[in-house]
Amino acid sequence: MPIKFNEKLKTFKLDTANSSYLFEIYKEGYLVHIYYGGYIPDDNDNDFFFRSSFAAVSPANDCIENCHFSPDVTMAEISGNGTGDFRLSTETVRNAQGNTATDIRYVSHKIYRGKPEIPNLPSVYLNNEEEADTLEITAVDPTTNVNFTLFYTVFSKLDVITRSVKITNNGADPVVLEKAHSLCCDFPENNFDLIHIYGKWAKECSTQRMPIMQGIQSVASKRGATSIFHNPSVCLARKDATETHGECFGFNLIYSGNFSIDTEADGYGGTRITMGINPIDFGWTLENGESFYTPEAVIVYSNKGVGEMSRTFHKLYRNNIIRGEWKNKKRPLLLNSWEGCYFNFNEEKIFKLAEDAKELGIEMLVLDDGWFGNRNDDTTSLGDWFVNEDKLKGGLPKLVKRINDIGIKFGIWYEPEMISPKSELYKEHPDWCVHIENRQKTIARHQYVIDMTRKEVRDNIFNQMKSVIDSCNIEYIKWDFNRNITEAASVSLPPERQKEFFHRFVLGTYELMGRITKEYPHILLENCASGGGRFDGGMLSFSPQIWCSDNTDPIERLTIQYGTSLCYPPSAMGAHVSENSRTGYETKAVAAMWGTFGYELDTERLSDSTKQLIKTQVKQYHRYYDTVHYGDLYRLISPYDNKFYCAWEFVSETKETALLSVVSMVRREFQTLIIRMQGLDKDAYYKCELNGKTYSGAYLMNAGLNLSECDLNGDGKSISVFFEKK
Ligand code: DGJ
Repeated sequence: MPIKFNEKLKTFKLDTANSSYLFEIYKEGYLVHIYYGGYIPDDNDNDFFFRSSFAAVSPANDCIENCHFSPDVTMAEISGNGTGDFRLSTETVRNAQGNTATDIRYVSHKIYRGKPEIPNLPSVYLNNEEEADTLEITAVDPTTNVNFTLFYTVFSKLDVITRSVKITNNGADPVVLEKAHSLCCDFPENNFDLIHIYGKWAKECSTQRMPIMQGIQSVASKRGATSIFHNPSVCLARKDATETHGECFGFNLIYSGNFSIDTEADGYGGTRITMGINPIDFGWTLENGESFYTPEAVIVYSNKGVGEMSRTFHKLYRNNIIRGEWKNKKRPLLLNSWEGCYFNFNEEKIFKLAEDAKELGIEMLVLDDGWFGNRNDDTTSLGDWFVNEDKLKGGLPKLVKRINDIGIKFGIWYEPEMISPKSELYKEHPDWCVHIENRQKTIARHQYVIDMTRKEVRDNIFNQMKSVIDSCNIEYIKWDFNRNITEAASVSLPPERQKEFFHRFVLGTYELMGRITKEYPHILLENCASGGGRFDGGMLSFSPQIWCSDNTDPIERLTIQYGTSLCYPPSAMGAHVSENSRTGYETKAVAAMWGTFGYELDTERLSDSTKQLIKTQVKQYHRYYDTVHYGDLYRLISPYDNKFYCAWEFVSETKETALLSVVSMVRREFQTLIIRMQGLDKDAYYKCELNGKTYSGAYLMNAGLNLSECDLNGDGKSISVFFEKK
């Protein structure tokens, strides 16, 4: 069993293939953490990190006999507030007396096969019960009778543990949750670096590695979405850990709204990490008998560096987050109209794109922004989800049929959570946008956000979408979200519940997105938020792919895709070849093949030679598809560490095939370039497509492939080499 309870020692031991996680019930019900790291056998005398001598100035629990125990210096599984542990709290509950004292003690537990769902929230799911086991611990704040159920799901074959908390008010009086984080994880040392991904528009997911400093560090968003600026993913890497070696702990939150991931290094040398919904602008009232569920946190252990941590995340997200018909179905190769046409198109232009797509071997035409209401630029019509017949004469059914008749599939763009002040919907329902009475509404990209907490608003948008989708054969939807939330409030909530707004907004979005995917399971959904502004596990639960960035320059894309791959699988990274970039079409395709691959350009502007090249790329895409989409990613040369090259490699699950790609970012004088590959079968022989030679896996991984003679000496030159087992 991956989860064991030792009755005598009162310890819980959670084992995955390469890791162990230990904690105990200490005396009066304190849930005390003991160890998380590489696998250890069961029959140990555990060193309990009591640290009593550290507790000179810390509160001690004098009910406990020897009076040495202090929650302030002890590692904890969950931390309350204001009752002796002054470090970051996981849960803070304001009670009917108005104070926030919260003390959480063990009551009971159960261990079972499988994993429960989290109501109304996306979470990791199982394909069969054998994949994971769950430990459910019930704890209580005895004074208020608020219950905390801690869920730990252990994946025995992957080094993954998921955690979440259900909070139930069993007391007579209402309480307000002021902080409801999903996990607390304590380490006895602080010899860690924090790796996280941050960015801005068109520069998402830059990677930063910095030491864990004394005090509190936070990676967070309070924008109403996970955001372009910070992603809910971090890695705690031992100081000596690298891409390929050493111990790393990955943390990712399955959530698409305000979040915080906080670390605290204490003076005694310990580190605490907590993560969950951002407590800023959060509050949730629980009446007697009501429950609140936190989003799920995923923890990944790796003793083979950051690369292995990422591959574990990728496997979990491909198999246990991404769901539905498109999970393992080959996705259509698409041409998106945005960068080629922006708002300037009519039905003939779109049909021409579809015809050219057909000639090039592309399978789907996606009509991006500008097809609805009176939208000819970004100042109008969001919320008016009916076709602009001035632009698309004859409407969508006619156009889609024409496109389908030549053998091309059709997809369309929506931004369902938005409303333009210049729109029919706004005229009819000016109160539907998120706003505060008597306060100026902040505008961004000429638009407001609609109040997704209100059912009638969601119903209206659903019905509008439904009437378009039902009118023609739509097989793909791009769901965009181009601004963050200001004046966060809802007329549907009383003043004392306004702090529930942000979380209710996310729940509303999940509900609407879930209705669309349930009603139209055959539609491939791609999320987007001005690029990668909502690239998170919550969105991946609805859409198997997410547009990575509006920056389609392949050199810029290297750092963006490198950072995104910290947690998210390449098969989910929307990546296109576009006109607007500084390299040739060869390198554009090499970079876009790191992700879902597609095109975003005006085909009428392409030269014949570029068209020929695209036809070759389409063939390569099909050849490489399985290796890239279902294989393992090895990041061989980081664009952050090496100013000249970036190199990555995909190896198929069975190690039958591999794809090696190298991009030269900056011109350099002649220099030896040997790439040592990873993850191959060392005893197998691989045929190298570049030179027809046969190399053993061991040779390619130890001696490496010599690319010194290849034309890689220059800005944006690149090469992709495919290998097949002999
Ligand atoms: C932002 C997206 O990132 C783009 O790809 C495009 O869909 C535009 N929105 C359309 O307004």
